[in-house]
Amino acid sequence: MTTKIKPQQNTMFKKEVTEGLTSFPKYLSSKYFYDKKGDKLFQDIMDMPSYYLTGCEFEIILNNTSVIGELIRDRKNGLDLIELGAGDGKKTKVLLKYMDENDFNFVYKPIDISENAVELLSNNLAQEMPTLNVDAEVGEYFEVLERLKGFNKRKKVIMVLGSNIGNLPHPKAIDFLTKLKDTMLPDDLLFMGFDQKKNPQTILEAYNDESGITEAFNKNILTRINREFDGNFEIENFKHWEVYDPETGTAKSFLVATKEMKVTIEKLQLKLNFDQWETIHTEISQKYDDKIVSWLAEEAGLEIETFFADDKGYYKNYVFRKA
Ligand code: AVI
Repeated sequence: MTTKIKPQQNTMFKKEVTEGLTSFPKYLSSKYFYDKKGDKLFQDIMDMPSYYLTGCEFEIILNNTSVIGELIRDRKNGLDLIELGAGDGKKTKVLLKYMDENDFNFVYKPIDISENAVELLSNNLAQEMPTLNVDAEVGEYFEVLERLKGFNKRKKVIMVLGSNIGNLPHPKAIDFLTKLKDTMLPDDLLFMGFDQKKNPQTILEAYNDESGITEAFNKNILTRINREFDGNFEIENFKHWEVYDPETGTAKSFLVATKEMKVTIEKLQLKLNFDQWETIHTEISQKYDDKIVSWLAEEAGLEIETFFADDKGYYKNYVFRKA
């Protein structure tokens, strides 16, 4: 299976790479980590014990399946369950199975930026849960949000798992939550995962595995630029570097040039210079507490209805309603 890149997405990628690499300090967006290889590396990350987020959220959904299910049920008209950034759907499947077996009238609509991920998930669900009504879509969050407004015929439950919101700085997270709220009617719910502040060492280790999987994931953005835009980044001359600021709760990923380098990116007509130890900031992974989540919700016009936590309190899934 090949991942097709839509012309529009490719134009954005070009524009954002050019902007980021000609800025000072240099930066790139983590949304471009995800091609076929990046999807696979992220899968491997989710399987690493040190990347506790996946296991914690799985535990939360597994231990509260019926409570969550009954919380979102609409006995009268049924519901549309819309998942943004569905990935492999491993965690959602637990809930889908419960809903499928307990007489819920619903359509599951997984949406992901990766065509590869959407195809794999659709095929897998068709095999594992043939009676499930699935209507998958490829698209970017903000583009999809517009289309969500058309889903207002019956109750809608929007799910965003994996602490994906953490890849947005607070102002963008508020913007994202506000746009989600704008698509919601009073009965609609938003079910969202937020990784919590905890021992800084635990957080650093989640993004700094010795096996080098996270490093390869971070560097995949340079691999993509080399392949898709005829770049000549010497990837081995960049170092993956992770920092976590316990005050702000922000984990940041960088690629650090270990020597002075000249890089040409033919298709972008770019010639770049890197000083030794110059950085490219590639990702933030924000960590939260109840106060920050309440503040974000309030800014966005949302109300926290309830939340679910894992045993260690590492991770929480909050249920929001329109305020
Ligand atoms: C998808 N996102 C929430 C992950 C995170 O934790 O920020 C991506 C990731 N980056 C490094 N490891 C995982």
